[in-house]
Amino acid sequence: MQTQLKSDSMVSLQNIYKTFSPDSVSEVVLFSDFHLDILPGQFVSVVGSNGSGKTTLLNMICGSVIPDSGQIFLKGQEIGAMKEYQRARSIGRVFQDPSKGTCPELTILENMALADNKGAFYGLSRGVSRRRMDEYRTQLERLELGLEDKLSVAVGSLSGGQRQALALLISTMTPIDLLILDEHTAALDPRSSENVMRLTEEIVTEKGLTTLMVTHNLKYSIQYGNRLLMMHQGHALIDAADEAKVALSTDDLLEQFNQISLEVGN
Ligand SMILES: Nc1ncnc2c1ncn2[C@@H]1O[C@H](COP(=O)(O)OP(=O)(O)OP(=O)(O)O)[C@@H](O)[C@H]1O
Ligand SMILES: [Mg+2]
Repeated sequence: MQTQLKSDSMVSLQNIYKTFSPDSVSEVVLFSDFHLDILPGQFVSVVGSNGSGKTTLLNMICGSVIPDSGQIFLKGQEIGAMKEYQRARSIGRVFQDPSKGTCPELTILENMALADNKGAFYGLSRGVSRRRMDEYRTQLERLELGLEDKLSVAVGSLSGGQRQALALLISTMTPIDLLILDEHTAALDPRSSENVMRLTEEIVTEKGLTTLMVTHNLKYSIQYGNRLLMMHQGHALIDAADEAKVALSTDDLLEQFNQISLEVGN
């Protein structure tokens, strides 16, 4: 059967099945006929209990986890056969761990130049022009962390909050189709966390980025984005967009969480 191209969606997952450790005592049947369509420009907050499949969902889109069956489309193109590094050209990703998104032994300038050259080292050895350097400084100024004066500082010596802000900037420097945030503020103190969320919203709005943001912070999931998914055992228990999302409160989400806990006997 010919699969229909989901050309109106930015991301589309169709008939996804994924079981970890099949036929063993630790078997986890996670996704079973899972479907998800994300429209261009949608900013989706994803909540859900531990183990509900949020990270696996992101990993399948990025290519680090391959579904057992089903199809994944990006901008209407089936990307199932594309390697993770190939997908990374059009997908920006910020992880929970601040040490993941940047190279610690390289300076801020080198990290930015590397991202600017889409990971090619030759750009670094050629040096960075004065004009590019000024551009990097301007971009760093918006973080409001004073990093514009620390271009030659090794990224490994920055705080977690500074690194996450930088990782966000770097992952959105070149044009991308999709931004993926996996609990990117979870390791930060409240103030750094607020700052990174402010930046996230600014960058997403300014670039009109289609975004998938996993968070355990219910307040953020309500406050940010124009669509909310609550995942539970590999399916979306809540999927509310636009007005339906605006109508949701953290109490609604808590109530739903309590319901789930009751059902699974916690
Ligand atoms: N590589 C793997 N091998 C075996 N099981 C896995 C693997 N990755 C995920 N799982 C299982 O799949 C389920 C979903 O995991 P996933 O990491 O997607 O959850 P999550 O919603 O991101 O949870 P958390 O909120 O804790 O980050 C869990 O039961 C997990 O143990
Ligand atoms: Mg996770």
